[in-house]
Amino acid sequence: MTSIYPFILALHSTWRWIVLIIFISSLLRFAYQKKNRRRFTPTDNFLKNTVIFTFYTQALLGIILYILSPITQYFLTHFNTAVHLRQIRFFGMEHSSMMILAGIFLLIGSLKSKNADTDDRRFKILLIWFGLALLIALSSIPWEFSPLTSRPSFRSF
Ligand code: HEM
Repeated sequence: MTSIYPFILALHSTWRWIVLIIFISSLLRFAYQKKNRRRFTPTDNFLKNTVIFTFYTQALLGIILYILSPITQYFLTHFNTAVHLRQIRFFGMEHSSMMILAGIFLLIGSLKSKNADTDDRRFKILLIWFGLALLIALSSIPWEFSPLTSRPSFRSF
């Protein structure tokens, strides 16, 4: 079971770029469409669903990692000590809970946008909720340049 851990870790690390590219380009398109008072087209709906799909796939990989990772296992079995260790606490608590929060924001944005009465309002709702979710995700990624919890930008399989 643990032998798939490095593979899932590399997949989770790489998939982050796919999530971010789709997420950022979709938000840019929503902003452009709104600014130019365009209709909410099937392409926009497809992009909205693709953001959710790629993000939730990443969350699923994250949950699998949470079960397999020696870091999170240490966190769960030595909670009282581990909660004071920044790197361990980051993966055991902060990263996972913030990403779940971002996922909830995506869901709220998606559901609210469905009930919007105009296309302008639909874009606005998506920009607000998806924008907040993106900010939460960006601030919770263990970036290579982060002085707090640094992980490589690219991991080989
Ligand atoms: C419910 C959601 C998530 C959970 C439970 C989760 C869980 C984890 C865990 C446990 C690790 C550490 C694995 C280890 O080093 O042993 C990790 C690493 C990481 N996560 Fe997540 N994650 C989630 C969502 C996300 C999302 C949405 C992104 C980015 C879009 C992301 C990006 C990363 C990155 C870049 C790493 C470092 C990977 C590496 O060390 O190469 N995670 N995640």
